[in-house]
Amino acid sequence: MVSKPDRVLIELRKVSFKYKGATEYAIRDISLRIHEGEFVLVVGPSGCGKTTLCRVFNGLIPNFYEGEFKGKAVVCGYDVAKTPTYILSKYVGMVFQEPENQLFFSTVEKEIVFGLENLGLPSNEIAKRLNEVVEYFKLKPLLKKAPYELSGGEQQKVAIAACIAMRPKVLVLDEPTANLDPMSAKDVIDLVKKLNRERGLTVIIVEHRVELIAPIATRMIVMNRGRIVRDGPVRKVLSCEDLVSKGVAVPKVVEIYFKLKAKNINLRTVPLTPEELKQELLRG
Ligand SMILES: Nc1ncnc2c1ncn2[C@@H]1O[C@H](COP(=O)(O)OP(=O)(O)OP(=O)(O)O)[C@@H](O)[C@H]1O
Ligand SMILES: [Mg+2]
Repeated sequence: MVSKPDRVLIELRKVSFKYKGATEYAIRDISLRIHEGEFVLVVGPSGCGKTTLCRVFNGLIPNFYEGEFKGKAVVCGYDVAKTPTYILSKYVGMVFQEPENQLFFSTVEKEIVFGLENLGLPSNEIAKRLNEVVEYFKLKPLLKKAPYELSGGEQQKVAIAACIAMRPKVLVLDEPTANLDPMSAKDVIDLVKKLNRERGLTVIIVEHRVELIAPIATRMIVMNRGRIVRDGPVRKVLSCEDLVSKGVAVPKVVEIYFKLKAKNINLRTVPLTPEELKQELLRG
């Protein structure tokens, strides 16, 4: 897939949503545009509306969750309020926090094939796509295994592979590494990075461990109490001094940047990795 950086895949205009029975809006006045090929990190304190926003991207809001929806959301050309989720699911793949809750079948192979059958593809196309993802994700040893026989990291890999087999335009991941050990978390993130860089897949990821994603994301959105309070290139957003007060766990290297700044040692840019911090210190 060739990435076209100026093509808008998701556009929200003043979107607000209040769950049925709730007193407050879970998201309020959200306006944003996400372009093809972007890698967007979404952060913010618990309960600020990150998952709710993800549910708008794949149409679960307002089609599945009941409540009050205001504004307009267009995803891959479809107005989500007027489009059944089975159509949107062709364009937007979704991976959640608990891998075991999104794998339903007795084997990995069946898991992947099911989504493809649902698309109504002929059997030769299903076989071709299955082969493709098995190669790309190196799933051969896992194909005949049951989801419960897999590690958390392998389960997330299978969940992502099952999405990718459907060739979505956008992959939305809601805290995909929350239940994983650091090594498996890194594997999953490396895989998502590869999909973005090699295939131009648009990625939106909710992740508390900012230091994992900041070096690879192109954009960072900070939410607070249902609103977007910061949105821009990662380095620019991380150079805002008030992020901690907005409930964002900034990477250690960014903390060090600000501590140095307080002592009048001004680095050229906010570092995103320990290596970048080292380079900046060596320069000065
Ligand atoms: N299915 C639901 N029904 C009613 N209220 C909900 C539902 N899901 C979320 N909410 C409420 O909407 C608000 C936003 O929740 P949401 O899950 O989107 O936050 P979040 O940023 O994803 O939090 P976390 O970091 O804990 O995952 C919260 O007040 C939450 O209680
Ligand atoms: Mg959430």
